[in-house]
Formats: sequence, structure tokens, C-alpha cells
Amino acid sequence: MQVKIEVSPVEKIAADALAVICFEKAESQTPGSTAGAATSDPALAAQSGWLEELRSSGEFTGKLYEMATLYRPEGVSARRLVVIGGGKPERFSPVEARRVAGTLVRSLKCKGVRGIALLLDQAGNADLVTAAAEGAILGSWEADKYKTDPKKNDKQIDAFTVATPAGELETLRLALEKGRVIAEAQNLTRDLVNEPPNRLTPAVLVEAAKSMSADLGLKCEVLDQEAMEQLGMGALLGVAQGSSNPPFLIAIQYLPAVSSGPAHLALVGKGVTFDTGGISIKPADGMEKMKYDMAGAAAVIGAMKAVGQLKPGIAVTGYIPTVENMVNGNAQRPGDIVTSLSGKTIEVLNTDAEGRLILADALTYANRHGATHIVDAATLTGAIGIALGHHNMGAFTNNQPLLDSFMAASRAAGEKAWQMPLEEEYKEYLKSAYADLPNIGGRHGGSITAAWFLKEFADPTPWVHLDIASTAWIDDGKPWLSKGPTGVAVRSFVQLAMDWKQ
Ligand code: BES
Ligand code: MN
Ligand code: ZN
Repeated sequence: MQVKIEVSPVEKIAADALAVICFEKAESQTPGSTAGAATSDPALAAQSGWLEELRSSGEFTGKLYEMATLYRPEGVSARRLVVIGGGKPERFSPVEARRVAGTLVRSLKCKGVRGIALLLDQAGNADLVTAAAEGAILGSWEADKYKTDPKKNDKQIDAFTVATPAGELETLRLALEKGRVIAEAQNLTRDLVNEPPNRLTPAVLVEAAKSMSADLGLKCEVLDQEAMEQLGMGALLGVAQGSSNPPFLIAIQYLPAVSSGPAHLALVGKGVTFDTGGISIKPADGMEKMKYDMAGAAAVIGAMKAVGQLKPGIAVTGYIPTVENMVNGNAQRPGDIVTSLSGKTIEVLNTDAEGRLILADALTYANRHGATHIVDAATLTGAIGIALGHHNMGAFTNNQPLLDSFMAASRAAGEKAWQMPLEEEYKEYLKSAYADLPNIGGRHGGSITAAWFLKEFADPTPWVHLDIASTAWIDDGKPWLSKGPTGVAVRSFVQLAMDWKQ
């Protein structure tokens, strides 16, 4: 799907469907005032009585994402005028603009529409343009790659235009382009997560990272099993030893042409291409979903794709430990003690707590390769969904200022993260009688013990850990988004790099 920008008066906009945003009526509207704009084009609303008629019929109230279609109304050259609810006008932000665009794409593509134009009245609001472009591209993504229905391609939108009656074209074009780059990167993440585990093994993830890097001229280095043995990555290798698909550690590097300071941001992503649990095996019911246990890795690849194009002023390296957590005659046992790259010994009490084991070695590796700040994303614990549900990623840190910057970036990018505690007291949950650390704590605070475990390997570098286990996948689609992989964390990662202040 192509995204375009157009600055022109509403009557000139040609499209199969022209969409205008109409808001809920402001509660205390003084008669005759236009406060709480009725639509994204007041002129259009004023010149015909259609909006009032729609409202009085009760068919349309302006509630968020509500839709009504009018055919060939006066004063419009587009064939259809689609009215879409914008909710309360004072609450309309890029978050709503992103979802409005996605909802339009998803509902109109089934109706034979090929070209959509969305009218945004707040001319010159570049953030709304970026968000609308993102929403349209994210909305067009489907999880049906392996369905063979030949008519699938008939139901897609070819072009999505963001239209404004006024505004500086070049500024808006850049804003649109930024949205396109980010959303296409996020869709790459979703493509990777959506791949079934027989097709996407660690070696295939390596190929995906290499091909993305080659396209953008990023350096991509890969450690194979032998190299990791030489270095002594016992924690990562212990997880991998139960699979016949060999493990890798990928490093994708972006260096700015003109560096604005000494900071070097490491993005680390958990890349378990399938998690059976190992000998501490998972129940059969729902195990198929464990193909998304590499969503953190895919988010890092997506973020690096966007970073390679948007070129922030800070150096960014993506580190991806990738393994398959399987069961064979050589599989790791509960009770095994492994020596991590850091030198710390770990008693593996549960082979299903494998993410933290592979991340431990990746964090040490990032630290040894000059990371000054680290952010990791991992589908780490089921417990984070118990704590936060599906709307927020859990965010943990050993450095409050870095977490504050991350939270600001993620808010600006329209993703939600919630800070979880990581206080000294929790350390006592992680005691091993026989090694430096166990890989699990007790029943309580499961996401916190997992984060505490990672902290032992991230310290003393400022670090943020994102537990995305409950946000990287949605079982039910939304009007603006397909079910399946969400591509969460990509936009926050990119925004953090772009907004970096040295
Ligand atoms: N990959 C899982 C976590 C997970 C659960 C991701 C549900 C997505 C959805 C992780 O490797 C795991 O198995 N964690 C265990 C930890 C436990 C053994 C301490 C868990 O959460 O049950
Ligand atoms: Mn597991
Ligand atoms: Zn896992």
C-alpha cells in the first residue's frame, strides 16, 4: 500500500472514499459557537445538512471509530464520503488518528475500495500525519500469509492519502515518510513473529537480520555455536543444547555519520524461535503460541530497519540471542549448573525460564562491546500478563533517568509501558544453595524476579527491561489491527533513539 500526502481543498480530493472525522458533540456547547469542531472539515459540514441529519437519525454520534457512508454528497468529488467518529474533540491525539486510519483501511478494504483519502483538519500537525500514515500501514497488515485463497489480493487498499486543506507540503511529506518507515519496520517485525516455528528457526532469523542489514548498509555480525563456546556463553548454550537447530548471537550495528556524543545504545531482544519449556515442559494446550517467543528479537530487527533509514544522532547496536528451547537426549536438566559469559554460575531450576538465560549472556556481551545504555525487550514471563493485562508492557530499570526517557519516548510513539518495581528487597527471592544464582524465584512476583535476574548481568550500565509477553500478541483483532503479532516496542525503540539527548 502506498501512502501519500495532499494539500488541497476538500472538493478537489479524488478518492474512492473520502473520510472525514466527525466528533461527539461537546456537552456544554454555547449556541452558535464552533467550539469542539464538529468535523475535520467545518466548511464541508456547514455547507450541507448531512451531518445534522446523520446525528438526528441516531445513526451516528461521533463516538470513536463509528462509521457511516454517504454516496456522492454535494460538494465532494470523491465517490463516497465516509464519516468516522473522532470521539471527544479535545481528546483527539495521534493515538486516535493512528486508530482511525487503521479502522478505515480494515473496514473499507472488504468493500471493494482501493483508494482512501483521510481529511485531517489540524493542518500542519505533523504528528497527526505521521500517526495516520502509521495507522493505515499497520491496519493493512494481515496474519494470513499461509492462506492460499487466490482472491485475497482483491481485497486490499492500494493508496492511502492523508489530506489537509492547508499546511506546508514539504514538512508534511517528511512527517508522512517518517510514519511510513516506522510502520513498515513494525510490519517486518510482525511478519517475522507470524512465521511458524518450523519455518523460522534461529538460522532463518539470522538470514532475516542479514538481509535487512544488507539492504540498509548496516553491519551485521553473527556468532555461531563454536564462537560462543570459545567465549564461554554457557547460559545461552545450555538452553540451545536440546535442539538440533543451532543457536546464534546476532549483532546489527548502526553508526551515525556525525556522532553527537559518546552514547551507544544497545537494543537486546529475546529470540527463542520456539519455547517448549524444555524438560520442564509446557502443557500442550496453547503451546503453539510459543512461536512468538522471539517477538523481542523481531522488535529489535524492526527497530534497526527504521533506525537505518531515519538515521538518529546516536550509535545503536541491536543484539539478538536466538535459540530453540527443545527437548532431546542432550537437553538441559533441572539441577544443571552452567557458567555464564560473565563468570557467574547459574543453577537451572526450571528449563522453562530460558529467556533470562540467553539474555544474561547477551547483556554481558553488549556490556563488553561498549554499550553505555541498554534496553531489552523479551516475552519473558506469563506473570506480567497477570500483573498488567494486555495493554501495558512492564518496564523495569536500574536507572530512573533512562526509564523516564524511555517512558516519554514510548508515550510519544503511542505505545504503553508501566513501571514495575525492582527494589533491593526483591533480591532475596533469588537464592541458590549451589550456585551464584538460581534461574527462578518463588511463586510470587515472577516478572520481578526475572527482571532482577537480568539486572545481575546488565549492571552497572543504565538499563531498561521490557517484558512484552502479554503485549506482543493479541488473540482478538481490533477494528484497526489484525489479530496476531502486534510489533510492540518497535515504535518506542525508534522514538528513544530519535529523541536521544546526549
Ligand atoms: N516464553 C515464556 C513466557 C511467556 C508466557 C511468553 C506466556 C508469552 C506468553 C517464558 O520462557 C516462560 O516460560 N516463563 C515462565 C517462567 C517460569 C518457569 C518461572 C513462565 O512465565 O511461566
Ligand atoms: Mn519458557
Ligand atoms: Zn520463553
